[in-house]
Amino acid sequence: MGIITCIEDLRRLAQRRVPRMFYDYADSGSWTESTYRANQLDLQAIRLRQRVAVDLSRRSTASEMIGQPVSMPVALAPTGLTGMQHADGEILAARAAAAHGVPFTLSTMSICSIEDVAAATRQPFWFQLYMMRDRDFMADLIRRAKAAGCSALMLTLDLQVLGQRHKDLKNGLSTPPRPTLANLLHLATRPGWCLGMLSTPRRTFGNIVGHAQNVSDLRSLSVWTAEQFDLTLNWRDIEWVQQQWGGKLILKGILDAEDARRAVDSGAEALVVSNHGGRQLDGAPSSIAALPGIVQAVGDRIEVWMDGGIRSGQDVLKALALGARGTLIGRSFLYGLGAMGEAGVAQCLEIIRKELDTTMALCGVTQIEQIDRNVLWGDASGSSTSSAFS
Ligand code: GLV
Repeated sequence: MGIITCIEDLRRLAQRRVPRMFYDYADSGSWTESTYRANQLDLQAIRLRQRVAVDLSRRSTASEMIGQPVSMPVALAPTGLTGMQHADGEILAARAAAAHGVPFTLSTMSICSIEDVAAATRQPFWFQLYMMRDRDFMADLIRRAKAAGCSALMLTLDLQVLGQRHKDLKNGLSTPPRPTLANLLHLATRPGWCLGMLSTPRRTFGNIVGHAQNVSDLRSLSVWTAEQFDLTLNWRDIEWVQQQWGGKLILKGILDAEDARRAVDSGAEALVVSNHGGRQLDGAPSSIAALPGIVQAVGDRIEVWMDGGIRSGQDVLKALALGARGTLIGRSFLYGLGAMGEAGVAQCLEIIRKELDTTMALCGVTQIEQIDRNVLWGDASGSSTSSAFS
């Protein structure tokens, strides 16, 4: 591959370098993948308003997310099995994020453990948690996140049951991969990945194996979620989490205005408008389509962030224009990681930052706080923007 200029280049490279079952795990949506596709398509459909003759000499993409200074309002989303896209993937991504001045969120379902990432980085990171039946294990995870100096807890609300992803079933997703003939033949086509994996001890769920009761060999994400995730999750449980944690709380997976109001009442610092990257409720609206209604419902009583479909700085700008104060990227950074490890995540962040900076300039804005609906074509000038975004 020649010079890398955009996230799509990183995606193509990752597809060549990461074993199929892990590339597919990251790159799929549930069932027909209609929501997964809508996340990107609806962002692409938004048009920007070109402005000229504005003084662009002093520009900055710097901002804050929950009071934390960020070089741009983009955080790395919690993604499961990140350490299977590349050996020690969570450590590498956390380092790239810290170097770039953006937050990294470690998933409960990570390969590198909370302690692994804390030992390998100096910048505090955020920790993502699922509501699980085993409250002792949850309390222990929260305690471990505190001990590791994590600066926010992100509770995922939209995955009590797992949306079916056909490819994971067809590929026999497991970590580490089962040594079947077909898997071994395929892995032989991914020598760089294999070498990396042979040089690290981290090949299964680091936060869970050896910590949760009765879990020693955790191969299947779907078995774990079916057995462990708490179907009774309700808003009172969020109070319990908050009591255990006592720090900044972010609620992820809100797609409805009514739920967003409940999130405000919970006292959380931020909510993430999210359909889990189209991996849960297939048929749900795209995140960007759901965003304006949620912003309208909660105003500035809570920070509203958005994830789903962001593959460029232009996408970040569009989310901010429709009222998000921050964004999360998942697949975009995973592609970078799978393509080139830490350097690939760094490149992903640099691509998005540059795109955001240049696109802000072309829209005639120089600071993140200036971005609002005025940068959208059709909104400010009176002609029509797609009704999905009004
Ligand atoms: C886990 O969060 C997943 O979407 O697979």
